[in-house]
Amino acid sequence: MQVIIAGSPGEVASLAADRIERLLARHKAAVLGLATGSTPIALYQELIARYHRNQLSFREVTTFNLDEYVGLAPEHPQSYRTFMQRQLFDRIDIDPRNTHIPNGQHCPTEEAAAYETRIRSLGGIDLQVLGLGRNGHIGFNEPCSSLHSRTRIKTLAEATVRDNSRFFEPGEFMPKLAITMGIATILEARQILLLATGSAKAEAVRTMVEGPLSASCPASALQQHPNTLVIVDSEAGSQLS
Ligand code: F6R
Repeated sequence: MQVIIAGSPGEVASLAADRIERLLARHKAAVLGLATGSTPIALYQELIARYHRNQLSFREVTTFNLDEYVGLAPEHPQSYRTFMQRQLFDRIDIDPRNTHIPNGQHCPTEEAAAYETRIRSLGGIDLQVLGLGRNGHIGFNEPCSSLHSRTRIKTLAEATVRDNSRFFEPGEFMPKLAITMGIATILEARQILLLATGSAKAEAVRTMVEGPLSASCPASALQQHPNTLVIVDSEAGSQLS
């Protein structure tokens, strides 16, 4: 696991975009794994800016998102499909047919199995972008998730429900279940790029990088991956020794 402590969230986004640009320069039809949440928004803005400067094209790229809420229709304003359309897909030249996000309205068991098959049939993920939960989750693999887990339905931890409630209106239905790629699914990506910014992530970053490999911090499983780059800002990296 390689760790870069960048000076600012903007620099985190720029260094992450450099990695993606480098991958697409040698492999135009790369398969990207993508995340939602606040952290990758700056990266997506940087990718959009580079696309507008003709530095990047996504015409041949395929994407697989990590997760989706169970019970939300793709067109629901809070679905991760809607998030990705607004934050990235509608603003670059990607072919919509090449963007994959689990459908939260399909039978979760069948959807999960079909998602794994789709990833495999397209040759696997070349580069997986990850955020980090304050409790150490990656995707929606909450603490105590099996390190061998595959795409499946998961109950969100109370802390995650609390953290994500900021995206929902007061009183609005907030799903407590998600379909998420498993930890073993994530570890099969050929390259992993985990981003974390802000002091709220400092403890999780320390546990992920310096703690023991343990299901109590799902992100610590990345210690086993041969090509993981962690890019954090100085606040998120403040507890690293
Ligand atoms: C989202 C996801 C989650 C987030 C994590 C951090 O697709 O998989 O693991 O990456 O909850 O979220 P933010 O970036 O909002 O702090």
